[in-house]
Amino acid sequence: MKDTILKFLKGADYISGEDLSKRLGISRTAVWKHVQSLKEQGYDIKSMPRKGYKLEGIPDLLDPVLIFEKLNTRFMGNKIYHHEAITSTNNKAKEIAEAGAPEGTVVLAEKQLQGRGRLGRTWESPAGGIWMSVILRPNIPPAKAHNITLVAACAVAKTLRQYNIPARIKWPNDILLNGKKVCGILTELKAEMDGVHYLVLGIGMNVNTEKEMYPPELKDKVSSLKIYTGQNLDRVELLCSFLKNLEEQYEIFLNEGVGKILETWKQHNITLNNHVQVRSGNEVYSGLAVNIDKNGGLIVKDENGNSKTFYSGEVTLQG
Ligand code: BTN
Repeated sequence: MKDTILKFLKGADYISGEDLSKRLGISRTAVWKHVQSLKEQGYDIKSMPRKGYKLEGIPDLLDPVLIFEKLNTRFMGNKIYHHEAITSTNNKAKEIAEAGAPEGTVVLAEKQLQGRGRLGRTWESPAGGIWMSVILRPNIPPAKAHNITLVAACAVAKTLRQYNIPARIKWPNDILLNGKKVCGILTELKAEMDGVHYLVLGIGMNVNTEKEMYPPELKDKVSSLKIYTGQNLDRVELLCSFLKNLEEQYEIFLNEGVGKILETWKQHNITLNNHVQVRSGNEVYSGLAVNIDKNGGLIVKDENGNSKTFYSGEVTLQG
């Protein structure tokens, strides 16, 4: 009902309560109640005696109604759950994936109260970011599932390039701007030996977040698109562009394999040909990042010419 009222409000200058009640087949009191609830959600709706209602402004919310107006995908984002505040969108996505949510289902939150990062870290998720999880059900062996993280990193980098934002991927899946992190990806998997049940792709994008929103220890490590560009970005538009790119990259991966994705990853990465330090478990290894293998592993060559491939870990770029 809310969607339909918004559609009518958007399509008219003023629309009377009576007109709305006739078109929707509900009482004028019911119309009024829906309008009040829209106002509570931040929609700026003016009421004028004898003229009716007029939509004067829409809130900066990742409201599915606003998203569906702009979304141009085949299946990515066909179903969207939107929360004002939630512990973690990944937790919610796992819950609904268990209950059978279809591929492409998206969970969004304006704020996360217990946002999770890689390696058991906390992910700061104040209002202004895009905190989202996408449910995927690829028909691939579990051993290949981590490639989906590369798919997502490529989709983020491509999307930001479309905004002339020169983001670069730091292995395995951090998106950096001027060396500072603006986006992270946390992929979680439910699988058996022979197949993937579902995969939850958790993406945290620091879009309109401000420096003051981050704790002191992160201030020099983290940035946002707003800090970089000096402007607020339209999060709904950005999200729709991302979902479109994600669908494209995902289909390339499923149809053509990881090779094409690795090419894109290489074009957008900042890790290769750099001196790096990799922390993996208790090991710390330094050398030149020479390549990424077909499984997404990072190949690092040390000063003695020995190479080692890493499939997980934390990379620090040196110099
Ligand atoms: C990282 O450590 O770089 C990964 C960060 C992933 C954060 C996102 S925000 C949406 C989703 N929900 C979470 O709790 N985490 C991921």
